[in-house]
Amino acid sequence: MTPLPTVLIIDDEVRSQEALRRTLEEDFEVFTASSAAQARALMEKESIQVVLTDQRMPEVSGVEFLKEVRQAWPDTVRIIISGYTDSEDIIAGINEAGIYQYLLKPWHPEQLLLTLKRAAELHRLQRENCQLAVELRAAEPVLRGRVEALRQRVKQAFALDNIVRVQHSPMSTVCDLVARAARYDVSILLSGDSGTGKELLARAIHYASGRAEQPFVVENCGAVPDNLLESELFGHKRGAFTGAFEDRVGLFQQAHGGTLFLDEIGETSPAFQVKLLRVLQEGEFRPLGGNRTVTVDVRVIAATNRDLEAEVKAGRFREDLYYRLATVPLRLPALRERPMDIPALARAILTKAGSALGRPVEGFAAATLDCLAAYAWPGNVRELQNEIRRMLVLSDGPVLTPELLAPHIRQAGLAVALEGATQPGLRGQVDALESRLLAETLARHNGNLSQTALELGLSRLGLRKKMQRLGLERPGRGGDA
Ligand SMILES: Nc1ncnc2c1ncn2[C@@H]1O[C@H](COP(=O)(O)OP(=O)(O)OP(=O)(O)O)[C@@H](O)[C@H]1O
Ligand SMILES: [Mg+2]
Repeated sequence: MTPLPTVLIIDDEVRSQEALRRTLEEDFEVFTASSAAQARALMEKESIQVVLTDQRMPEVSGVEFLKEVRQAWPDTVRIIISGYTDSEDIIAGINEAGIYQYLLKPWHPEQLLLTLKRAAELHRLQRENCQLAVELRAAEPVLRGRVEALRQRVKQAFALDNIVRVQHSPMSTVCDLVARAARYDVSILLSGDSGTGKELLARAIHYASGRAEQPFVVENCGAVPDNLLESELFGHKRGAFTGAFEDRVGLFQQAHGGTLFLDEIGETSPAFQVKLLRVLQEGEFRPLGGNRTVTVDVRVIAATNRDLEAEVKAGRFREDLYYRLATVPLRLPALRERPMDIPALARAILTKAGSALGRPVEGFAAATLDCLAAYAWPGNVRELQNEIRRMLVLSDGPVLTPELLAPHIRQAGLAVALEGATQPGLRGQVDALESRLLAETLARHNGNLSQTALELGLSRLGLRKKMQRLGLERPGRGGDA
């Protein structure tokens, strides 16, 4: 049980002392004193939370005594009781003594009790507040350190270095451009098919810029009605329209000092484009239903999977807005335009997915990588990601073998093998197909000839002969053992 709050009653008349005690003793631990001197002595000994004193006392007045109490025990809550005639003396000293309540005689028990309970609650809250402040002060440097560490981690996670590409890939050219453009406060328009990495690149730009410590805010402008888009971006005042129950701070304001990423900008209406252009030109706007203009400092990066220049020519996208957004236009190449990136991307994705799913694997069989590199990936890196995660979930062994691939992706690999057959004609194509099938099956059985032969319906000798003729080696052994 929590201890009762403590109260000290000071009154030179024993009868009123007793009346006060009876009123309070159920809810308080009550101490009494008949003079300031006695009270002082008691307060030295006991931890008193609330002091309740009569104004009129022989040596020192109640107010005078409370001034003293305030000095020596500042966190006590101080209450004074007095008759009407003393009010002027009290009012003169009330601020100096830091008095919480001034009660007039005759007091009513219920009211007095209520006042005292509130006083005790105030004392409790004050104390809690002090403790929290102390704890907060102690925790601050720790929290500051943690925030800084997290900030560094985010910065690292979105660094340009984490965008996987190999040398001489078209993606490398884009990243080089980004590395240059990021630090200048210019608007950048990212275009490219779905899943090519536009959002990833937008974040990399932000974290490579001088705005890295400020917010990165994303708005998807696609398929959002104009009025909603405007209220999201520019904010609104309560009551600006039906349903606007509260003030809302727009994303432009939230991104102040940082970067605003406007995704799917090509989907916006002409009316919205006019408004956006004005905001970008003036650097200020007015929230819906508001009468004060807001000025913001925001870098805008926009993205689209349309050919925005063609949209401009066709009159569907405002030319002036296009130039405003595209100080630096960057086109992200589709994955089929950079097959050289696929093995590196696949490995990076596999490592990440492996640790995320708690299923680390060694890697891909060579034939799997060939199929991945041969497929056209209409959904680009996102589709590659999905395929690898799916394979990972379905696999048991340490290596991702080709039969885990979705059939259409595996077929793409076989088709390329056929096309690439060095010998023309049917014989060459059959050889290519055969060698592909043998290589896949061998990989799946980690080079075990008996198991491979069994699966293919061949004898061990027959298999060896075929391998010799096709110039195949057992995976990981560099020759026929
Ligand atoms: N070069 C890359 N290296 C590593 N991961 C990549 C790369 N490109 C894309 N990704 C990953 O692929 C996924 C899709 O990328 P992102 O969301 O940036 O594409 P997007 O172009 O914005 O697509 P959409 O137009 O569909 O929104 C993300 O998980 C992203 O991290
Ligand atoms: Mg995107």
